[in-house]
Amino acid sequence: MSHKIQTLGEFIIENQTAFKYSSGELSRLINSIRLAAKVVNHEVNKAGLVDIIGAVGDTNIQGEDQQKLDVYANEKFIQTLTKRNIVCGIASEEEDDFIAINSQDENHQNKYVVLIDPLDGSSNIDVNVSVGTIFSVYRRITPVGTPVTLKDFLQKGSQQVAAGYIIYGTSTMLVYTTGAGVNGFTLNPAIGSFYLSHPNMKFPLDGNIYSINEGNYSHFPQGVKSYIKYCQEEAEDRPYTSRYIGSLVSDFHRNMIKGGIYIYPQSSKNPNGKLRLLYECNPMAFLAEQANGKASDGFTRILDIQPTELHQRVPFICGSKNMVEKAEAFMKA
Ligand code: AHG
Ligand code: MN
Ligand code: MN
Ligand code: MN
Repeated sequence: MSHKIQTLGEFIIENQTAFKYSSGELSRLINSIRLAAKVVNHEVNKAGLVDIIGAVGDTNIQGEDQQKLDVYANEKFIQTLTKRNIVCGIASEEEDDFIAINSQDENHQNKYVVLIDPLDGSSNIDVNVSVGTIFSVYRRITPVGTPVTLKDFLQKGSQQVAAGYIIYGTSTMLVYTTGAGVNGFTLNPAIGSFYLSHPNMKFPLDGNIYSINEGNYSHFPQGVKSYIKYCQEEAEDRPYTSRYIGSLVSDFHRNMIKGGIYIYPQSSKNPNGKLRLLYECNPMAFLAEQANGKASDGFTRILDIQPTELHQRVPFICGSKNMVEKAEAFMKA
């Protein structure tokens, strides 16, 4: 590390004047996410030792079997944010409806809503493969002092004031943006502090990795099939390498560092794809654009899509700018 040594706490304080809006509140919010991340990290790290692996026996609003860690991470993030009286509302992949938070003593003075995918990559928990958490922050649009409404959550991704993810991998990292670039912090587990390890992260303009669940090939639209064939062709710097972890957070993180493209397309079985616009695609698209990358549904910029419902799904193409533009060209052909 050639840059100066800085903890996440120090970084937040030093950079808070750069925030567009009420800086103290957003700083406290990022601090709370940092705290919840450490709690969840502790549990994820000992997943093989304690009874936290496996399914709960319930299905979430997405129609997915909830894993114990999905439920645990959901509870911890909601508890941490609620008890600190920091946000006025939370929406989560694991909750049917949004949660309105009444700050009794301050009379609903909090300005921010948070949307979370508490545990991303559920299918990887039992097999000790990296999982993550994704978060997205907006300023409420209804007046302060009143309970939040659905409108506060259904904002275009371009309105995000912060977004990020935690990756519980070979090391645990917190990567986030407040609209002034992307910075990555690595947890030193012995001390319990996150340190700035990846300042000013950028997607290489081009890459040679493509990440897509090719098992669904026969259900993909023709544009995606043709792009996959293009990736596999013997020409120029191709064939590309195929890497698919099955945790969006991990696939995105690798592609941002090495250069690559992630695609979760629409299919004949799932006409809107699988990924959730509010909890997964918008925060990742904000990060991607802040890191010189690009994100679209094949035709439209993700951050320009007007959400119509909380758990809305959307096709997702995200990564190195030139690669995304190439894939879009195939979609439009
Ligand atoms: P989650 O675990 O939050 O439900 O998200 C899973 C998502 C995403 O992380 C991953 O890239 C994708 O689903 C994997 O889906 P397939 O198994 O269909 O490839
Ligand atoms: Mn899920
Ligand atoms: Mn997810
Ligand atoms: Mn999830």
